[in-house]
Amino acid sequence: MALTLEPHQPETASQPSETLVAPVDRVPAPAPHVRRPAPPRGAVPALLIDHVTKRFIVGRKKKSVVAVDDVSIRIERGETYGVLGANGGGKSTLIRLVSTLLTIDSGRVEVFGHDIEREEMAVKRLINRVSVDAAFFKKLSPFENLIYAARLYGLDAGTARRESVAILARLGIAESRLSRPLEQMSRGMQQKVAIARALLTSPTLLLLDEPTTGLDPRSKLEVQTFIEEIRDSHDATIVLTTHDLAEADRLCDRLAILNEGRVVVEGTPEELVARVAREHGQPPTLESVFMTWTGRSLDDDTEEDDDDDD
Ligand SMILES: Nc1ncnc2c1ncn2[C@@H]1O[C@H](COP(=O)(O)OP(=O)(O)O)[C@@H](O)[C@H]1O
Ligand SMILES: [Mg+2]
Repeated sequence: MALTLEPHQPETASQPSETLVAPVDRVPAPAPHVRRPAPPRGAVPALLIDHVTKRFIVGRKKKSVVAVDDVSIRIERGETYGVLGANGGGKSTLIRLVSTLLTIDSGRVEVFGHDIEREEMAVKRLINRVSVDAAFFKKLSPFENLIYAARLYGLDAGTARRESVAILARLGIAESRLSRPLEQMSRGMQQKVAIARALLTSPTLLLLDEPTTGLDPRSKLEVQTFIEEIRDSHDATIVLTTHDLAEADRLCDRLAILNEGRVVVEGTPEELVARVAREHGQPPTLESVFMTWTGRSLDDDTEEDDDDDD
């Protein structure tokens, strides 16, 4: 049993009856992203993935599929790290392994120095995973959802209340609307509440699995802006998966490209772009970085199946 914060409730088909967000012309243009300087090495990393492999046995013929293939990644505290890849590349599997929803076949993972197998409870307190379609009690309000989460995390009632109020205030939800059911809010706002819920603990390793996939452009921009705010204002380390190159460029300090379960290249977006131009004579864009190291375009297959979550 892993993240207890994903209560299973049937999805309601109802459309959001209102949006609690500014009209599109009032959404501020994103500020240019300032990447953080590389954090000092030697300190305990927020996340250490060491030669991790995960296979699935599929079908009647019991075919073995290597979803994550000998992946090693080290992420320092405070970084925003992107895992970029086409569908089926192994992104969600990697996130699920780190969040202890799946077991590792071989290799080791540490979160802030805690081994995820031997110290599972300590790790669970430090990590939060938000998947593409965040699970909530949709009939409950954002406030109720946060209080529920806070109590699960072991915060006392007073602190839970205080923290929830503070977090929701930051999301810009009007007080009069705090008690409305979540299902009446825009999907962008629901996603922001899902991410905000993860801020109830600190320090924290936020695992965002395609946090903006399937959102309309305005909601997408809002969620991205919110992720930037978190990164600037919280003691949070963020791992986010995406197949959106612009999003990776905007949000991430460093990136790994995951192709068929393997990390094929890693670096800051600037390093990768410079490298593809220097070593391969390709245009200095993330598109050509992706093409060069995976042999295909990211647009080729992103439409096929976005049904990749629980
Ligand atoms: N629970 C599972 N059972 C069997 N195969 C799986 C399972 N989850 C993922 N896979 C396979 O592992 C590979 C990686 O999938 P996934 O991690 O979902 O990739 P991504 O999130 O990058 O789209 C794919 O080939 C997928 O079919
Ligand atoms: Mg996925």
